[in-house]
Amino acid sequence: MLNLADSPARPLILPSILAADFARLGDDVAHVLDAGADGIHVDIMDGHFVPNLSMGPAVMASLRKRFATAFFDVHLMVANPADYVKPFADAGADHITFHIECTAGRKTDHELDLIAQIRAAGCTAGVCLNPGTAGGSITHLLDHADLSMVLAMSVQPGFGGQSFMPEVLPKVREIAGRLPEAVRFEMDGGLSPTTAPDAVAAGVDMVVAGSAVFGAADRAAAIAAMKG
Ligand code: DX5
Ligand code: ZN
Repeated sequence: MLNLADSPARPLILPSILAADFARLGDDVAHVLDAGADGIHVDIMDGHFVPNLSMGPAVMASLRKRFATAFFDVHLMVANPADYVKPFADAGADHITFHIECTAGRKTDHELDLIAQIRAAGCTAGVCLNPGTAGGSITHLLDHADLSMVLAMSVQPGFGGQSFMPEVLPKVREIAGRLPEAVRFEMDGGLSPTTAPDAVAAGVDMVVAGSAVFGAADRAAAIAAMKG
């Protein structure tokens, strides 16, 4: 099983199953793992934080049952992430990322509580920023011993298949410059063999790609191209 802290591979490639064929989800996941994916990105949408619905813990549990050793990276695009940490951890998630925008306006230690809940549930923890959210919004979390990953969105969350937003790159470079060595940096949205090199050059070491992997005629070639 992939361990975020100990994996030397840079970048890791994590196909997002939002772009898979849900009628043959297990076979699609098996295919991309065989094609060289380092793990699977699982996008959870609640129809509130984002204007779309995706899947719940039952899907995660079925995937874990079939893929005992695969790394599952759960991205919570939900208004109340604390409600979903335990259900997804119990269903087999390895890593859980929440959005900093969800905790805006709440008491300042809410993020720290969430990170603690994720760790207590047996997962590594990540925090995500939308394209319009300033890098300074996560500064107080970067040195937190239990933070394993920062995720920068390169599209507005809610839908796969959108175009990469290159205007996030200056913010990504700025965050990368002050990220502790142990914290991984993931980017999500519109990444492909064409756009991933700019993300990696800016300091990203985990690439999420939905359409560029599941929509590729040769998925192994798409993954290899993004690994560089
Ligand atoms: C967007 C999701 C992404 C998305 C990526 O809300 O978080 O993971 O599915 O899909 P592509 O790679 O198609 O932009
Ligand atoms: Zn995602």
